[in-house]
Amino acid sequence: MRRVLAGSLLALAAVAACNSDQAATVRNFTYAREFRYYDEQEVRGAMQRMSVAVRQLDALLKTDGAPPETQQQEVVRLLTEVDAAARALRSPQRASNHPRLTENLDAFLAEVELARASAQRTPPNYYAAGSITGSCLHCHAPASAR
Ligand code: HEC
Repeated sequence: MRRVLAGSLLALAAVAACNSDQAATVRNFTYAREFRYYDEQEVRGAMQRMSVAVRQLDALLKTDGAPPETQQQEVVRLLTEVDAAARALRSPQRASNHPRLTENLDAFLAEVELARASAQRTPPNYYAAGSITGSCLHCHAPASAR
């Protein structure tokens, strides 16, 4: 009886696989609880969000003449955006289908936090904010190494 039940659950899971909304249901059957499964779309979405934010950040820091308070608010907002996108990928499980990501995310988040804290100070210090793209290298090899 157990076997029959397990069989029909698997069949159900297979049906659910056709519906992307229910992909999570299937993963619950397929992967152990200790395993974090990252959806490609989820990782890409977060990376694209971070790319847009760091590009805007670089542009902002290069621009002269913005009112200091506006500039500070914007720098902090963009770093908060990077932080939120990255934080959504955090995983308490150590094993995942993106081990590089799981292992390096906390180091990256710590640097984003530091950059944000320095930018929030009075007077602000944007040194760490200006070099945040360097922190992407925790996971991405520098162009020179490719
Ligand atoms: C903790 C690890 C990690 C950090 C830090 C990180 N990335 Fe990624 N990034 C990944 C992974 C994993 C992928 C998926 C592709 C792969 O395996 O290289 C990816 C993919 C990307 C992509 C391709 C997205 C697509 O549409 O396919 C871009 C662009 C990107 N990252 C930009 C950035 C930028 C900009 C930063 C820094 C603000 C950054 N990443 C920091 C792990 C990371």
